[in-house]
Amino acid sequence: MSDNNKLWAGRFQEPIDAFVEAFTASVEFDKRLAPFDIQGSIAHAQMLARQGIISAAEKDSIVAGLSQIAERIQRGEFTWSIAREDVHMNIEAALTEAIGEAGKKLHTGRSRNDQVATDVRLWLREEIGLIRAELMRLQTALLDSAEAEADTLMPGFTHLQTAQPISFGHHLLAWFEMLERDRERLADCLKRVNILPLGAAALAGTSYPIDRVYVAERLGFERPAENSLDAVSDRDFAIEFAAAASILMMHLSRMSEELIIWSSAQFGFIELSDSFCTGSSIMPQKKNPDVPELVRGKSGRVFGHLMGLLTLMKGQPLAYNKDNQEDKEPLFDTADTLRGCLKVFADMIPAISPRRETMRAAALKGFATATDLADYLVRQGLAFRDAHEVVGKAVALGVASGRDLAEIPLAELQPFSPLIGADVYTVLSLEGSLAARDHIGGTAPRQVREAIQRARQRLELN
Ligand code: ARG
Repeated sequence: MSDNNKLWAGRFQEPIDAFVEAFTASVEFDKRLAPFDIQGSIAHAQMLARQGIISAAEKDSIVAGLSQIAERIQRGEFTWSIAREDVHMNIEAALTEAIGEAGKKLHTGRSRNDQVATDVRLWLREEIGLIRAELMRLQTALLDSAEAEADTLMPGFTHLQTAQPISFGHHLLAWFEMLERDRERLADCLKRVNILPLGAAALAGTSYPIDRVYVAERLGFERPAENSLDAVSDRDFAIEFAAAASILMMHLSRMSEELIIWSSAQFGFIELSDSFCTGSSIMPQKKNPDVPELVRGKSGRVFGHLMGLLTLMKGQPLAYNKDNQEDKEPLFDTADTLRGCLKVFADMIPAISPRRETMRAAALKGFATATDLADYLVRQGLAFRDAHEVVGKAVALGVASGRDLAEIPLAELQPFSPLIGADVYTVLSLEGSLAARDHIGGTAPRQVREAIQRARQRLELN
């Protein structure tokens, strides 16, 4: 359906090719920006009237017309047309249809180039707010679980081999810290999102006596962008968001991986509630951790969007190029994917039941307190490197005889070093090992509880 009344058709003699019309149109996806487009247009019209560029009556008519269009869109009663290319021209054309001549004045002193950049920033600002709220909900769930599991023993791993005993709460706090950096990154990204491009017009600014500071204030932007060329061509803010989103997804993917491993029969550290799992169509015994698996899988598409956006920008000369129309789908999908993953994680964390006995039993295997024995010998005056060797030999005996260090009687330990006394068994216990790591950032339950208090304060502060 080709329309000869294109808003830009003045210089054209032939109608647009039907396929090209569909090929260049973006309305199918950018209609999502409609509420922000209207918000930006209302602020622009108010500024035009305030500066005497249009009359107050024209402004009132524009604002009323746009508000009605916003309602029609919300009710699903607005007809979008690809002949009108994008969200901006669909709305402008509908405005003129609704209010007549005044509608034709809305675009005074503005271009779709500064308009679209403004719309995307308004949209992203809102998305970042929603994403940070969901992130906080997940972080709060982690803190609540960490509090309940501050004393729960589990093996800590390096190389996925048993390393030292830790508390499950301490492990959950590590996740909290990863996410806390993500929350900071998003807040930092927001500083650069929240800058107003409008007023840059097509690329060079406009000859009308506009007031960009007023528009920035009305729309809640920090300030107008300094340079008009940069204002219409900059998509750094979108790339930064995709980068922050990618790092966050990488974190969720690592957390997912652990949940998947822990919920396997071989580990059995946790039980995921049925509502976050699915069964197998062939194997009746299966309960699969689909939710963490999907989150791990979805990290790939978000990383892909980051690459897509970087590649989109790398060859573009200043200022606006139509390439930029391709920024929306990856951006929208990044925000939707991220928000969905955060929501499902925030809901899932409280639905994880730790199997405390299994975790404790696993910590008893694998000589997790070997370092504690070495530290014990150091306290008796042995150099650490010599202590390391003594303990290595004791571990070799344990491996050969199928016993953990705590199960080897004193008479068999003492030949390795006369410094080993009967009190050694307190340091060889899991609880003793845990409690000994009693400093900021350590796994001692006392420290975990204090870390949780500090974490709650950080969440409250911003
Ligand atoms: N739909 C376009 C986009 O998303 C709007 C800006 C078009 N500007 C232009 N000069 N053709 O980027």
